[in-house]
Amino acid sequence: MEIKCVGIVTSGNDAPGMNSAIRAVTRSAIYNGLKVKAVYRGYKGLIDGDIVEFKTQNVSNIIQFGGTILKSSPSKDFKSEEGRKKAFENMQKEGMDALIVIGGDGSITGARIFAQEYDIPCIGIPATIDNNLFGTDTTIGYDTALNTIMECVDKIRDTATSHERLFFVEVIGDDAGFLALNGAIAAGCEEAIIPSVKTTDDQLTSFILNGLSKSKSSSIVLVAANETDGGALHYAELMKSKYPEIDVRISILGHLQRGGAPTAHDRIIASRMGAASIEALKKGLRNIMIGIDNDEIVHVPFSKVIRENRIIDHDLLDILHNISI
Ligand code: F6P
Repeated sequence: MEIKCVGIVTSGNDAPGMNSAIRAVTRSAIYNGLKVKAVYRGYKGLIDGDIVEFKTQNVSNIIQFGGTILKSSPSKDFKSEEGRKKAFENMQKEGMDALIVIGGDGSITGARIFAQEYDIPCIGIPATIDNNLFGTDTTIGYDTALNTIMECVDKIRDTATSHERLFFVEVIGDDAGFLALNGAIAAGCEEAIIPSVKTTDDQLTSFILNGLSKSKSSSIVLVAANETDGGALHYAELMKSKYPEIDVRISILGHLQRGGAPTAHDRIIASRMGAASIEALKKGLRNIMIGIDNDEIVHVPFSKVIRENRIIDHDLLDILHNISI
């Protein structure tokens, strides 16, 4: 079937660079003679018919903004057959022949089910600060969040060194730990506590005490937010109760990690992936996520993205430890 009109939706949690991707998809589609229908408020908008035709000027002056101009919203209804039926009917009504989904693992999972049920060509573009999608070296938003963390820790370090304190800085990133580990390396932290590595309380205390007893008068530990172990608060309480002489503080960075102007890297990958999504449709590809592997665009089947986990390189933890002695 010839594709004449493509839908575009941002779904799940926002990530810096989504706007750069929306711009690239819209402009590449129009350049290739396709109509573009923009869906507002994620899959919910597809069900509610919250859909507007986009021309090139609808995406003018957005490349530099964080968040998503299309807005995003979780959709319980899209998880039901009835909801997806309504979404499909709206696509037919609007004349949309294919759908480009910009988002994280939940969004790709939704796209996969929808594509299978209604035989609609769907292409995914990975956008999440968590960097936890299989098949791509990086996701849109990750680099910006990493830089935000680095800048925040640089600022915290001023107080940590001036007051000779131990800081536990909590970062988000789902259970993947990429932001905590690479953020710790980039900001020269002493330790990163990530979900995939079991750091015992004893290991942590001996590591910190060792550093403090040698040359250091301050330390910064990045902790990946984690509901099961209590995050930064747990480790701070532990140190305070065992070593009241150490001046311990906590800083929880929260959602400020998800906002802000995308870095050049995120804008570039978003632009490349957006253009590649239209190229892929033109080649007749469907139900794949666009990825970047060794700086080359790759096409990863949805089934692989969903089934496989992106594994964190634990050697990075050794590097962090070895260069923070
Ligand atoms: O997926 C992005 C992310 O920011 C995660 O790192 C975090 O665990 C989650 O979203 C927070 O979601 P919410 O905005 O619903 O609190």
